[in-house]
Amino acid sequence: MKQGVLLRYRQFLPITPKTPMITLGEGDTPLVRSQRLEKEIGCGELYFKLEGCNPTGSFKDRGMVVAVAKAVEGGSRAIMCASTGNTSASAAAYGARFGLETLVIVPRAGIALGKLAQALAYGAKIISIDGSFDDALSLVRALTQRYPITVVNSINPHRIEGQKTAAFEIVDALGDAPDYLFIPVGNAGNITAYWKGFLEYQRAGRSKSTPGMMGFQAEGAAPIVQGRVIEEPRTVASAIRIGNPASWKGAVAARDESGGRIDSVSDEEILSAYRLLGSSEGIFGEPASAASVAGLVKVARQGLELKGKKVVCIITGSGLKDPDTAVEIAQPPAELPADIAAIEKSLGLV
Ligand code: F0G
Repeated sequence: MKQGVLLRYRQFLPITPKTPMITLGEGDTPLVRSQRLEKEIGCGELYFKLEGCNPTGSFKDRGMVVAVAKAVEGGSRAIMCASTGNTSASAAAYGARFGLETLVIVPRAGIALGKLAQALAYGAKIISIDGSFDDALSLVRALTQRYPITVVNSINPHRIEGQKTAAFEIVDALGDAPDYLFIPVGNAGNITAYWKGFLEYQRAGRSKSTPGMMGFQAEGAAPIVQGRVIEEPRTVASAIRIGNPASWKGAVAARDESGGRIDSVSDEEILSAYRLLGSSEGIFGEPASAASVAGLVKVARQGLELKGKKVVCIITGSGLKDPDTAVEIAQPPAELPADIAAIEKSLGLV
């Protein structure tokens, strides 16, 4: 049975005797070695951390379990978040299971179908606004100040606490920190959390080193790279379609303190990495997740020395969450009669 994040890493988390040790089986996700890309780009060892294997299909569950446990501990009755989809799916699941009402505000354009389906299935109250994620987050900030509702976006520090446990797992699996960690950046909570985790583990003597933090935004939604708020962010990777990240400063600190980079990748590069992951590694991540791999391919092309280096790419969410994109960019299946000769011909068997 899976322990869950709270129990496994309790000495690193803000747990009191009153904190309910809840879990849906989050964390302990696979770290799998690359079969092809590692050789293609010539790095020492390349691993993918499959965060889509969490209970609601994304890394958000690690932070949500802590945020919800602390909300329950504090006597809260309701939680609220803005979301491009995954946070709302996770909040709705943990809210439903642990007796909290879940209120969600999402941008009307660009929440992937699977994520909406999840929030609906878990019984959240969902409001879809004619605005961006950034607008939704401003509304959530205002509403949670006005009413006794706990915000569970990553502006809630308990989210960051939970998410840092993914860094612990990587060090536990590899025996030390990798040389580089590649990660998509949207609202920038996750890169902030990983960096916190790597630092804390090093301080606790669990690792000797810390990785260079390599964060990637989508080109049309790259406020940190451009150094300005993007009013109308655009990208196929709807999860990271964010123009004014809440943890902007945390991401910049992670980059600068770790000697890493924050750069952008185009939608074309994201989709090419998305296809490559699926068809040559057997890993179906959502488009935003592919930004980490697109970033690795980009810096390898630019000549970053990767020989002998250990690299981890975070695959933040499952590809099943966004079936529309998967189907849209693929060759449609061949439609044939139920006839063996036609099938043989179509498959090139004869
Ligand atoms: N990858 C996926 C699959 C995400 O859902 C997100 C963020 C990110 C990467 C970026 O992480 O925001 O911590 O920098 N999704 C949020 C949401 C915004 O509402 O689900 P970040």
